[in-house]
Amino acid sequence: MSVDVAQVRPARPKDADALAAAYEEAWRGAYQGIIPHLDLERMIARRGAVWWERVLRRRASLLVLDFGGQVAGYVTFGRCRIGRGPYRGEIFELYLCPTYQGLGLGTKLFDGARQKLREWRLHGLLVWALADNEAACDFYIRLGGRPIAEGAESFSGTTLRKIAFVWR
Ligand SMILES: CC(C)(COP(=O)(O)OP(=O)(O)OC[C@H]1O[C@@H](n2cnc3c(N)ncnc32)[C@H](O)[C@@H]1OP(=O)(O)O)[C@@H](O)C(=O)NCCC(=O)NCCS
Repeated sequence: MSVDVAQVRPARPKDADALAAAYEEAWRGAYQGIIPHLDLERMIARRGAVWWERVLRRRASLLVLDFGGQVAGYVTFGRCRIGRGPYRGEIFELYLCPTYQGLGLGTKLFDGARQKLREWRLHGLLVWALADNEAACDFYIRLGGRPIAEGAESFSGTTLRKIAFVWR
């Protein structure tokens, strides 16, 4: 019998603290040196356990990567925010703590979100990534995503380019 220690499962109310910790670690790891320091610190401060508790109470579409009982990452998803195009589903955020990266777990979270979106008949998928987040862009290309559009994200004193990847 083989037991998979890495499991994608719906988030539970008691995950709030772990999600706040995972968010902080994953966002620092991904964006230090990309998003201006103060903006990043403000985002992290805002997304503490109380923020996550509120999200979990609203039953947001949120799956976590549970690695032997630890929350190693999460993915949020839902209806695409860009109106009615051919891409009905969107992954809003997909983040793993640095220790758990490069092991196929990001793919597992991505597949979990895609499966849920398919169950909801939200076919076609769109994901935004900052262009400077090369690891994320490479990851989405490796998973078959096609860059289709560009946008911009403004922070204090700087504007960063972002890329939309799509899957049919
Ligand atoms: C981006 C991220 C989700 C990828 O998850 P992961 O578990 O590390 O990736 P996987 O191990 O599932 O890799 C899947 C494929 O993507 C490729 N890939 C993953 N990270 C990569 C990197 N840094 N550079 C190049 N390719 C990469 C892998 O080589 C793999 O391809 P292969 O199957 O041919 O080997 C994860 O690294 C992460 O959470 N990063 C920080 C947060 C972030 O940037 N999130 C996305 C915001 S838009």
